Amino acid sequence: MITYLPGKEPHTREYRMIFKNVDRAGYDPSIDCYLNDGGYQQLRKAIGMAPKDITEEVKKSGLRGRGGAGFPTGMKWTFIPPNNTKPVYLICNGDESEPGTFKDRYILHQDPHQLIEGMVISAFAVGAHVAYIYIREEFPAAARIVETAIEEARARNFVGSNILGTGFDLEIYVHRGAGAYICGEETGLIESLEGKRPYPRIKPPYFPAALGLYMCPTIVNNVESLCHVVHIIQRGGEEYAKLGTAKNTGTRILCVSGDVKFPGYFEVEVGKLTMRELLYDVCGGPKDGRTLKAVIPGGSSSKILRCDESFKIKNADGSTRELSFWDIPMDFDSLAACGSMAGSGGVIVIDDTRKISWVLNNLNAFYAHESCGQCTPCREGSMWMKKITDRLVSGDASPQDISTLESVAYQIDGRTICAFGEASSWPVEAIVAKFREELLADTKEENADKPHNPEAEAQRRFLHST
Ligand SMILES: Cc1cc2nc3c(=O)[nH]c(=O)nc-3n(C[C@H](O)[C@H](O)[C@H](O)COP(=O)(O)O)c2cc1C
Ligand code: SF4
Repeated sequence: MITYLPGKEPHTREYRMIFKNVDRAGYDPSIDCYLNDGGYQQLRKAIGMAPKDITEEVKKSGLRGRGGAGFPTGMKWTFIPPNNTKPVYLICNGDESEPGTFKDRYILHQDPHQLIEGMVISAFAVGAHVAYIYIREEFPAAARIVETAIEEARARNFVGSNILGTGFDLEIYVHRGAGAYICGEETGLIESLEGKRPYPRIKPPYFPAALGLYMCPTIVNNVESLCHVVHIIQRGGEEYAKLGTAKNTGTRILCVSGDVKFPGYFEVEVGKLTMRELLYDVCGGPKDGRTLKAVIPGGSSSKILRCDESFKIKNADGSTRELSFWDIPMDFDSLAACGSMAGSGGVIVIDDTRKISWVLNNLNAFYAHESCGQCTPCREGSMWMKKITDRLVSGDASPQDISTLESVAYQIDGRTICAFGEASSWPVEAIVAKFREELLADTKEENADKPHNPEAEAQRRFLHST
């Protein structure tokens, strides 16, 4: 029986698979702990399979990427051109840069061998002999722990030349980022790995699986996604697909932060919990004397949902039904049907003590700081949006500013090289649409003629004085 550290026991609604060893009493990241628990058995099994059969199991499992887009993992692997003669690379995306997301770091810190086993199996399936784990700058301990784990795995012949005597070779390298959100975007990550400024690449090609690192086919998968591969091999794809719900299979780690009594990370079967069950049963509901106002359900880039909203949802037979915010199942398709997304699993909860203009300004400040600057709508627009909400929080905005804010967001959305454009504009679009009255209450009509920023004020003073 597995026991957990006091106070860190999983909630009874959790299904711990990927996080089985996180906060486990007596467990450390060493290979001995992992081997004592049956570690690397799935590698032994997978390496005796044909690579295409591993991909087939991953396809059957229905696994969808846990990095943000929810793209089917098995399908992504098949995008490597069939007549490819170039080297194939596997990259593990350990940038974990989406605000509200804090799951991959626990795997890197506490269970690195699960990730390494998943990576060796995945590399074998896609024919990669070199793999990278891209770890964000802010995780120095994770980089050290994973490097030690790779050396331990090499010493046991799970990594390196002629793995387990099969003739399969794989080198895994840790590559550390320098602390930029955009390095989580897969093509920005690849540029960074190549030693360049992490400017995301123009599409097409739509997937690095066609042209990626050093212009060779490259599979980029999230840390959590790669760990799932171990469990798919263990259970078989069909058995794994019984976890969760149809088209939203398996488990996923939800990271709940903000205004609930018990925030934290919770591994649950996908779609088996509704918003109400997650926020009340698992997270204890709002703090005393407060009420919940809104939730950003899939990391800061996802569109906000109001707690008093309801949605018209299409049934499989084409009919429609009404779904309240509280009854939304926490899965990819339901959240998308409600106009938001499950994204990276970062659930940010906002209660009635938070001013929405403050929330929006906080988001805008992040995106304005993190834009890589390559495309004009994103570089300029993210800064303009931040300047407008700066005025909003300081009481210097006029009602017209809200329309300008909305207009700027719509001029970014869909007009940029990478999805950062949507990541920065969707929060604005959704918040303005759903909280217009609250935002307007923070504006003043008499501010309409005032200069819009300190530079304009200084310029006006200069012009008046000459
Ligand atoms: C601006 C931006 C930031 C991203 N940050 C991350 C990240 O920190 N970690 C991650 O796994 N994916 C991130 N992604 C998604 C990746 O581009 C990519 O889709 C993902 O790593 C693929 O892995 P998956 O299929 O296993 O989800 C980001 C995407 C965008 C547009
Ligand atoms: S959308 Fe923004 S982050 Fe993405 S490439 Fe353009 S400027 Fe860079």
